[in-house]
Amino acid sequence: MHHFHYVGHDLHCESVDLAGVARLYGTPTYVYSAATIADNFHRLQQSLTGLEVQICYAIKSCSNLAVLRHFANLGAGFDLASGGELRRVVAAGGNVRSSVFAGVGKTEAEIKLALENGIQAFHVESEPELVRINHVAGQLGVKAPIAIRVNPDVDAQTHAKITTGKSDNKFGIPLRHAAAAYEAAAKLKNLQVRGVQIHIGSQLTDITPFAEAVKKMVPLVAELKAAHGLEYFSVGGGMGIVYRDALASGQAAWWAAQPPERRPITPEAYGAALTPLLAPLGLRILLEPGRFLVGNAGVLLARVEHLKRGANRNFLVLDAAMNDLVRPAMYDAYHEIVPVHRDSSRRALVADIVGPICESGDCFAKDRQLQEVGEGELVAFMSAGAYGHVMASRYNTRGISAEVMVSGSAFELVNARESFEQIIAGEKVPAFLK
Ligand code: LLP
Repeated sequence: MHHFHYVGHDLHCESVDLAGVARLYGTPTYVYSAATIADNFHRLQQSLTGLEVQICYAIKSCSNLAVLRHFANLGAGFDLASGGELRRVVAAGGNVRSSVFAGVGKTEAEIKLALENGIQAFHVESEPELVRINHVAGQLGVKAPIAIRVNPDVDAQTHAKITTGKSDNKFGIPLRHAAAAYEAAAKLKNLQVRGVQIHIGSQLTDITPFAEAVKKMVPLVAELKAAHGLEYFSVGGGMGIVYRDALASGQAAWWAAQPPERRPITPEAYGAALTPLLAPLGLRILLEPGRFLVGNAGVLLARVEHLKRGANRNFLVLDAAMNDLVRPAMYDAYHEIVPVHRDSSRRALVADIVGPICESGDCFAKDRQLQEVGEGELVAFMSAGAYGHVMASRYNTRGISAEVMVSGSAFELVNARESFEQIIAGEKVPAFLK
């Protein structure tokens, strides 16, 4: 469910007309719905009924300070993937003490920064990393809290580039080596074991791999709890969202109309499958959702530059490009694209929807059907809140797009469009070329 809907002919985010946002702040611009984020958060928090749940929002999915403050106000902790993300939490007024630090290659400087800020735990991905964290903690004279990421070797049945829980992936310590890794950690005197973690992949649309992974882990987690006094089990993130019917899925009626076997994953189904498996462990359960919380809470607004009618196909050329939203080019991801002003009297158009960047990969959709739209009109990419703005680049010397947050009838620019001066600020011509 989300808060993007047409009022009359015009697409709104909550009570705000998106055409008005584009008029004020230009395009391409990401727009986020604060109410959708809050709804998603509360729904997920209530899904594991009876368990002590801590949500650590995966910052990597959308990391502007406004979104982070919103999560901090909701009571979330954070799942960090770098020192930069940690500094964002601090800048946004979030709580590092309820946050966890993930990643296969944390540097000594990042480990130090996290310890100085009182991180809840490092999610450790390898034996050499245990040694490194122990070393840095020793230098600071503190004990570093850790949880080991275990790779349960489960097929998440998602895109190859975002699956993480197979033994072929670079992540975690294999299940059969995990007990030994905990023994090794217990012997390192500057470490303090706090928990255990898994994360099997992203955009999972079926509950089965989650349940399979947890089932595989439960005996080990119980054993580790007895041996090392664990406080928590983090089951990672990964819950998928609706991309194909993104706009319609904002309405309860759409969900009710889906036959049970076709109904996408929901927090309630996730909770119903996992709660009975997790409850006997008697541990706090951490969740590290990114996409589920923000994915359907954001759209990317773009303007039509031209409708180019070719010999064999039409091209709808937008002012947004693969540098603004890379998911279609990178993962062949589908994003629904809708007109901001809907007009049922218009003819339908079938076109490739493309950006202005000089490569054929700069294509958002092939043979997409939508209402005919012309130069200067606006379209919105639905479900663009997660892994949208954060993955933007400056390719073709295009500034990073703006971000706006909406709450009810209020909206504010929360991240200004990057200027040319900002893009080149760190560059210079060396003396030997002058
Ligand atoms: N925890 C860990 C350790 C992760 O690596 C990730 C995501 C998450 C949690 C959050 O997963 P989520 O709930 O968002 O699925 N750029 C890709 C997705 C990469 C996901 C990376 N890890 C995309 O656009 O689809």
